[in-house]
Amino acid sequence: MINEIRASVEAEFAKVNALIVDQLHSDVDMVENVGQYIVDAGGKRLRPLLALLAAASVGEVTEKHIKFAAIIEFIHTATLLHDDVVDISTLRRGRPTVNSEFGNAPSVLVGDFLYTRAFQLMVQLDDMRVLKLMADVTNLIAEGEVMQLVRAGDPDTTREQYFDVITRKTAILFAAACEGAVMLSGESDETLQRMHDIGLNLGIAFQLIDDVLDYEGDPEATGKNVGDDLNEGKPTLPLIHAMSHGTCDEAALIADALRTKSADRLSEIVALAESSGGIRETRNAAVEHCERVTSALAELSSSPAKVSLEKLAEFSISRES
Ligand code: IPE
Ligand code: IPE
Ligand code: MG
Ligand code: MG
Repeated sequence: MINEIRASVEAEFAKVNALIVDQLHSDVDMVENVGQYIVDAGGKRLRPLLALLAAASVGEVTEKHIKFAAIIEFIHTATLLHDDVVDISTLRRGRPTVNSEFGNAPSVLVGDFLYTRAFQLMVQLDDMRVLKLMADVTNLIAEGEVMQLVRAGDPDTTREQYFDVITRKTAILFAAACEGAVMLSGESDETLQRMHDIGLNLGIAFQLIDDVLDYEGDPEATGKNVGDDLNEGKPTLPLIHAMSHGTCDEAALIADALRTKSADRLSEIVALAESSGGIRETRNAAVEHCERVTSALAELSSSPAKVSLEKLAEFSISRES
């Protein structure tokens, strides 16, 4: 499905990938080795694709858009390098994580390299509005990850608090991918806002499904382990819903697993997330956000990129990887 979605910006997408590889170079061997290790593993490159499609939906895709798309992927990859240390994750993109293969310090420091390389590239764009957008966005992502850390192990986390975390840690970058791209095209404030909303809702739907896949995904397909969120005591929507809709005993079992940050009873908890409707509710919430994407897209004039964006929205809720 992703290949099909890429079709309308195939040549530009190839240029983004070439730029990503080119910009990884460093005189410091470890930076290059670790950078290549995570980049070679692939990843869906959904965010740069989103930036290209947003640009293509309003006009021509320029070299600035190519650079901007690579910047977005660098920021995303930097957050993954940091996130896997914090989450003590061992599998990413079907390979051992950088932290488990090279150690926590290389993962954090090469993450910093990618973040700062992204800002070097951004300066080359020579666009103060885009620079401001990305400075604000990276700051919000950092806040989101800290908020999540604070909430870890807390079964009293509310649905609103959960949505606040996923909006900051994930959806804001999707929103920036769309908004920044059309900013570079010189579009009106109205279009900027529409693109922001499209990216934001797509990102929320994407993370909701990620949180489902953390319980019932296939590691062969996702390239990540199941149960990571429970191991970190993350109160995600499947469990928040399960605790408020299950029996007292069921809620207590989940609350205890969250407090002790233990996936020892993962299979029982997966069963409860299913039987209480927690998984269904999370998928429904993703569908709702996807519908907001679709109705905002309806305002755009017809183009192959628009069709691809519709498919991308569909992919974000039906995905298994
Ligand atoms: C993983 O994102 C982090 C989340 C926000 C859930 P992706 O699933 O897009 O990761 P890659 O880049 O394809 O590996
Ligand atoms: C996304 O959250 C984190 C980032 C924004 C980097 P997750 O912790 O759920 O992402 P995965 O599951 O490790 O990819
Ligand atoms: Mg993680
Ligand atoms: Mg996850």
